[in-house]
Amino acid sequence: MNNIIITGACGGIGYAIATELLSNGSTIWAIGTSQEKLEELFGMNDACHLYACDLTLEEEVVKMVKHIVSLSGPVGGFVHCAGISKFVPLYLTKLKDIKSIFEIHVYTAILMCSQLSKKGIAQDNCSIVLFSSVAAHEGASGNASYAAAKGAIEGYLASAASELAEKNIRINAIVPGDINAGMFKRFSESLDEYKLEEREAKYPLGFGKAEDVANLAVFLLSEKASWITGQKYFIDGGHMSRKV
Ligand SMILES: NC(=O)c1ccc[n+]([C@@H]2O[C@H](COP(=O)([O-])OP(=O)(O)OC[C@H]3O[C@@H](n4cnc5c(N)ncnc54)[C@H](OP(=O)(O)O)[C@@H]3O)[C@@H](O)[C@H]2O)c1
Repeated sequence: MNNIIITGACGGIGYAIATELLSNGSTIWAIGTSQEKLEELFGMNDACHLYACDLTLEEEVVKMVKHIVSLSGPVGGFVHCAGISKFVPLYLTKLKDIKSIFEIHVYTAILMCSQLSKKGIAQDNCSIVLFSSVAAHEGASGNASYAAAKGAIEGYLASAASELAEKNIRINAIVPGDINAGMFKRFSESLDEYKLEEREAKYPLGFGKAEDVANLAVFLLSEKASWITGQKYFIDGGHMSRKV
């Protein structure tokens, strides 16, 4: 696969996807907020271009896509792993909290899809992979804005898939449970041993690894998934299936 854009490439899941793609010979654009951090993680590698920007700024997104296409040609795939998590109880939630969550998870995702749907920007059978979360399907105090943003991504899928199919672009979403990486790993460090064990007990196969999610993302990006679009894939070690 070539010319795959990965946002949040310095994060837990994004990094695993980037390294899995590089190990199978793909060429990628690793996107992060800091050039220094990108260089530290990916070093010098002809297969891996680095680009630092703030993806919540529309002009930065447009500039980034133009830069990538002018240097490497049409985009072969896009994985949107950039995101933030923020626990705020309802009674303290302010517009700035809601906006900051929606901006990176939802607005950037939609804006990128809009860019990719323009003439000459995406390759034939380009594949887009967005991220939802089981949080959109189960209740957890303090997480309602994040859950709503993930619900928005899932709501976006069907219409975007039908419009993008006309351009032979596919779009799917991954819906992970607790992955022992990135934002969940940081959160889990604040839990005591008992709370963590209690939480993991709700995962029949235990917490996930970033590599588990990377394998699914790479499949969705690949030709092997060329007849799959508009779908969401739960990857949660049986968490949502277990009701008792
Ligand atoms: N980890 C889990 O258990 C889990 C579960 C369900 C869903 N998810 C979803 O999976 C995706 C990846 O999660 P993760 O755990 O890998 O998160 P993570 O480790 O926190 O990584 C997120 C990345 O987003 C980037 N980012 C944040 N704001 C940005 C901005 N304004 N512009 C550009 N980049 C920005 C950060 O880049 P820099 O590091 O360069 O600053 C960061 O590395 C997210 O959508 C998350 O909601 C994760």
